[in-house]
Amino acid sequence: MRLTVIGTGYLGATHAACMAELGHEVLGVDVDPDKVAALQAGRVPFHEPALPELLAKHTASGRLRFTTSYEEAAAFGEVHFICVGTPQRKDSEGADLRYVDSAFASMARYAGPDALLVGKSTVPVGTAGRLADTHAAEIAWNPEFLREGFAVEDTLRPDRLVLGVGSERAEALLRAVYAPVIAAGTPVVTADFPTAELVKTAANAFLATKISFINAMAEVCEATGADVSVLAEAIGHDDRIGKKFLRSGVGFGGGCLPKDIRAFAHRADELGVSLAFLREVDAINMRRRDRVVELARELCGGAVLGARITVLGAAFKPDSDDIRDSPALNVAARLRLDGADVTVHDPEAMDNARKAFPLLGYAVSAEEALVGADLVLHLTEWPQFREISPDTARSLVSRPRIVDGRGVLDAAEWVAAGWEFRALGRPA
Ligand code: UGA
Repeated sequence: MRLTVIGTGYLGATHAACMAELGHEVLGVDVDPDKVAALQAGRVPFHEPALPELLAKHTASGRLRFTTSYEEAAAFGEVHFICVGTPQRKDSEGADLRYVDSAFASMARYAGPDALLVGKSTVPVGTAGRLADTHAAEIAWNPEFLREGFAVEDTLRPDRLVLGVGSERAEALLRAVYAPVIAAGTPVVTADFPTAELVKTAANAFLATKISFINAMAEVCEATGADVSVLAEAIGHDDRIGKKFLRSGVGFGGGCLPKDIRAFAHRADELGVSLAFLREVDAINMRRRDRVVELARELCGGAVLGARITVLGAAFKPDSDDIRDSPALNVAARLRLDGADVTVHDPEAMDNARKAFPLLGYAVSAEEALVGADLVLHLTEWPQFREISPDTARSLVSRPRIVDGRGVLDAAEWVAAGWEFRALGRPA
């Protein structure tokens, strides 16, 4: 089939390359000519494992191309996937729909009456219905559940496909697009527009709630001397609860969970339904960052002014160079504001971090970052950081004190090497 993908950020670039991998002819569209030029040259402008290989393969074969022209896209595709961002609005918790609205309007203007416009962006419930009422072209909603760091895997082998459709024709077209994925046994859920939109927001709200639940338990553990990692393991053995997304620590960040729970609570208010608990989920999450700042102060004898602090991690999670709403950088920036001399190292996110937080110090390696440190904060759980030898690290720092903000370092090993070791939700 001939498909277009409008918006070539994380979601769109991955979707375009994966659709080419499924055997389709794909045209990616973006308003940013630099992004289009990079992608057309086979270069992915962000860090995502397995995507560069896929992009290079299909731009070389000619099955995947990129353009800045909506007109060209409309003439090319039978099915148009709209993958533009829905960031948080500046003036409220709600989602900013200007990119979605303008992408649909542009495609609807140029595309013929047979074109199917498929939204993949995460939107407030009711958006698809509104767009369908506004434009003559047929619309479908097919939410995306990919995780950064696993984007290719999650697109080619998703847990489920959700097809929000208003006609048999739309369903048949989407089933044809995903035929190889469906043939591999992926469950397909067909739904009306509001249900399809809600599946995505509900899924992200549930995941955020699970993380904040265990982080609230960490607060109770801190107040009682209990150990949240043992608690999480024990409750996770109950398969109704499950072990996944129960890693307590400095909390969730990124371009999705934080803004999605805010937009969902905001939309619920508009609908006269209370999702006030999501505001508490958000508040618990933000309190974990406060807790790391507080621990840093405590370990530095009451104030961080003049202390040399090493922050391991800048990305909001490992295997990503995405620093949007990164807990690690939020903590680093606050300590810098309190007068600490902060040095950050991250295996992939250094360029992005430097641009957004030019006042922080940056080191080219974890070892260099550790030299002379009065305190070390481990805030993004890159596997590389787990391989740091506590003995070697001990010889580099000025004072061996570390906070494990992700709960993955081996406390006994660090203590044996002479470190004062603190972790969130665990006894000192
Ligand atoms: C999230 C969802 O997991 C995807 O299913 C969804 O498609 C995506 O948002 C989206 O809406 O586009 P992502 O933001 O890539 O994906 O990251 P996650 O792997 O969900 O991690 C989110 C944050 O939670 C990270 O900061 C991570 O460190 C944190 N986290 C995760 C925890 O603190 N504890 C956990 O147990 C798991």
